[in-house]
Amino acid sequence: MRKELLKLLKKNNQDYISGEQICRQLGVSRTAVWKHMESLRKMGYHIEARSNAGYRLVSVPDRIYPEEIEGNLETSVIGREIRYSASVASTNENAKEWAAEGAPDGAVYLAEEQGLGKGRLGRGWFSPRGKGLWFSVVVRPKVNPVDVPQITLVIAVAVATAIYKSTGLVPGIKWPNDLLAEKGKLCGILTEMNADMDQVQYVVIGTGLNVNIMPEDIPRELQGVITSIAMETGKKTDRVQLMQSVLCEIDYWYRTWLEDGFKPVLKHWKKWNITLGNKVKVSTFRDVVAGTATDVDENGALVVRLDTGEHRRFIAGEVSLRRDK
Ligand code: BTN
Repeated sequence: MRKELLKLLKKNNQDYISGEQICRQLGVSRTAVWKHMESLRKMGYHIEARSNAGYRLVSVPDRIYPEEIEGNLETSVIGREIRYSASVASTNENAKEWAAEGAPDGAVYLAEEQGLGKGRLGRGWFSPRGKGLWFSVVVRPKVNPVDVPQITLVIAVAVATAIYKSTGLVPGIKWPNDLLAEKGKLCGILTEMNADMDQVQYVVIGTGLNVNIMPEDIPRELQGVITSIAMETGKKTDRVQLMQSVLCEIDYWYRTWLEDGFKPVLKHWKKWNITLGNKVKVSTFRDVVAGTATDVDENGALVVRLDTGEHRRFIAGEVSLRRDK
């Protein structure tokens, strides 16, 4: 009902619509309309009421409400169900709980802020209120569990494409899935899987995209390490529009991966890549090695020619780009 009311106010495009007309179109009482108007106002919608004229929507809040995102979302799998919280510890945790309770393929959990955002390798993820897109997607691909790491490359291609199409900013992908820009890290992806030996139950892909973070928001230990779309472009970005674009691209690339395999994804991943051809240091749970990143193979593994001349494949690990070329 609240959704329907919002749709009606938006359709009226800042013109007044009478209470009577709203009641008639939505088939509800005056009291019900009033109650839902109040709840929209509490959510931050600025709605003017004038006697003899009715109601008019003056402005929408800077919030990533599902009502806003679902508005004209054209996806077939991703975002069919969206859950939202103003504040959570970590959207990956909420998404995993939801997945265990039966969240459908493509379900999305998003939040305005995370108190305990998780990064890769046990690190944290800075997720200030209203400044980014902190969300997790639940997928249930019918693929071999060993192929699941490819999905982070799928998402990296999708998010890079959405950023470029929406803002003109050209991010670079550092293997496997960090999106970097001129001033630092723009986006990180954390994939968690629940699988049996031969069957995937669900995969939760958590994405943290720094959108409108400004230098003064950044804690000292992250200064010079992270950046945002606003810091790179000098402009504030509409998070709802960007989120819609991100979901559309994820929808497209996820379906491409399922239907046509990893090859087309890899081709595009290579276009955004800033890893290959560079001297790198790769840290794994086993050791740290130095060499030159020469390729990403048909499974998504990074191929490195070690300084000793030997070639090694990595399916997981942390890459730092070495400057001593
Ligand atoms: C990385 O270390 O690069 C991965 C960062 C992933 C952060 C996102 S924000 C949304 C989701 N929820 C989390 O707790 N982490 C991921």
